[in-house]
Amino acid sequence: MDAIEVIRNRRSIKSYQSTPVSRETLQNLVDLARYSPSGANKNSWRFVVTTDRESLQNLSQIARTCSWFGSAPAGIAIAIDPASTRYWLEDTSVAAYLICLAAAAQGLGAAWAAMYQSDNPEESKRRQDMVRQILSIPDSVMVPMVLAIGYPESQPPPRTRPELKDILFWERYTINE
Ligand SMILES: Cc1cc2nc3c(=O)[nH]c(=O)nc-3n(C[C@H](O)[C@H](O)[C@H](O)COP(=O)(O)O)c2cc1C
Repeated sequence: MDAIEVIRNRRSIKSYQSTPVSRETLQNLVDLARYSPSGANKNSWRFVVTTDRESLQNLSQIARTCSWFGSAPAGIAIAIDPASTRYWLEDTSVAAYLICLAAAAQGLGAAWAAMYQSDNPEESKRRQDMVRQILSIPDSVMVPMVLAIGYPESQPPPRTRPELKDILFWERYTINE
């Protein structure tokens, strides 16, 4: 698949075959994440990969919105020390999406589990505390998201996307009544 096809066809994958994902394949995803752009080229992200069943099960308990983690054969937590860059949320998000695309390009599926919510500090702290504890991540390090990785059980159909006419403005932002 070429890059444009991958962008158009990628979907979040939340059910997986039981087939394990090899260490080499997981390493390759993180290897590709190194090519993400980062603010001021700080490259501060770190990646904690797990294939441990108990850890994956524990990750699935963090929130109702990531219960599907329990069936994933692997996970990648994206971690960053917020003291290292003011762009910690942006940098980790860019790397996360790059991993999602790289996974899709290889016939793998990925899904994003949010561990940080800018409008809910208490819930963010609860999730951060849990994910840090599961993966032995220091308290000073943020983990805005964890990605589940696995071979898709099935490929969801393309999602309806916003119409270009509703989101693209030339020269001036337009408020539609
Ligand atoms: C910032 C962000 C946070 C997300 N958090 C979750 C999550 O916690 N749980 C979940 O099931 N999906 C999560 N998703 C996946 C979105 O729901 C999904 O990308 C969206 O519905 C579009 O579907 P698609 O990825 O198949 O195109 C998240 C996606 C993004 C970009």
